[in-house]
Amino acid sequence: MLRRLHPEQPESFAFTEANQKWAEAQITKYPEGRQASAVIPLLWRAQEQEGWLTRPAMEHIAEMLDMAYMRVLEVATFYFMFQLQPVGSVAHIQICGTTSCMICGAEDLVATCKDKIAKRPHQLSADGKFSWEEVECLGACANAPMAQIGKDYYEDLTAERLGEILDRMAAGEVPVPGPQNGRFTSEPAGGLTSLEVAEGEREARNGSVALAVEIGDTIKRIDGTEVPLVTPWTRGGSATKSPPPVRRPEPEETPGPKVAKGKASDATGVTKQAAEAASQAKPEGKSNPAGQAADDETRAAAEREPERLDTPPGEADDLTRINGIGPKLADLLNEMGFYHYRQIAAWGDEEIAWVDARLKFKGRITRDDWVEQAKALSET
Ligand code: FES
Repeated sequence: MLRRLHPEQPESFAFTEANQKWAEAQITKYPEGRQASAVIPLLWRAQEQEGWLTRPAMEHIAEMLDMAYMRVLEVATFYFMFQLQPVGSVAHIQICGTTSCMICGAEDLVATCKDKIAKRPHQLSADGKFSWEEVECLGACANAPMAQIGKDYYEDLTAERLGEILDRMAAGEVPVPGPQNGRFTSEPAGGLTSLEVAEGEREARNGSVALAVEIGDTIKRIDGTEVPLVTPWTRGGSATKSPPPVRRPEPEETPGPKVAKGKASDATGVTKQAAEAASQAKPEGKSNPAGQAADDETRAAAEREPERLDTPPGEADDLTRINGIGPKLADLLNEMGFYHYRQIAAWGDEEIAWVDARLKFKGRITRDDWVEQAKALSET
């Protein structure tokens, strides 16, 4: 199955304030330079917020993590859990069609979806409230057939029961998830035969269902306020403690990868010499002012400020035509005084190092070959 960006995309994406804080907190789980490791949780939270993964959302996350847009697209298109097209405004229904569920009636559930939602998977219902798809085993085989709706599992389903659930959701209700045939969890249908619990001693709902009911987020679009933000991996781990902000590019910030004077950078933008010097001067986990000073000296020698303009003479070029530059990055470049292809086309290694250091791109300019692209565009 081809997984591509949907042809219709929204103009922009922004996390809600609470989701943004959550996302920034996730990034702090990883060492400096390894923020890309947070890509899957951030993509997932964007999907939880919007229902599906839009291109602006992927670009926003790429910029938060200093990743090339293409790298984020690769992740989003690889994992089927990411929805690349709009889903129902109320719920997206995922019917398990694997062996246990198929034997126990998954095909009837699919028929219900076709009847009540849309003929084809990933197609929106006429009122836009629902969409559906068939998925592989969701790990609840003992409660087959089952469906994941939003964040929760509805198990021991029949076609009729699924139809009722859809009707109630369309009416604004959220039926209690979990087994739909009276089972507590996945005990024998005829009742417990061992580890019996005395009448009245058992909770009303199993732990998963109780939590779903308590949080109330089964089909809710997540805005980050559902549960307190807890960051146990930071000192204190307080829910009220704000995570360190994501580092944004600042002109006076210490740059990332450096290019030694007169030397070509490798694909990552870091020369072997610079990498070795950095690792010797700055042992992991310890600050080293002397090493830092040496770094600064090396950097200063390797950089040259490119031509910058206060305002564009005439109409500014559309920098987003350069692969690797999105709308936000184009705005940032404009703010730095770059408006024209010819400006970028004139960059040499030292100018690239200057820009790279300030945008903390870790070699993206070279990797995406902005200069050659800009040369080609300035000639058209
Ligand atoms: S086969 Fe359906 S959940 Fe495993």
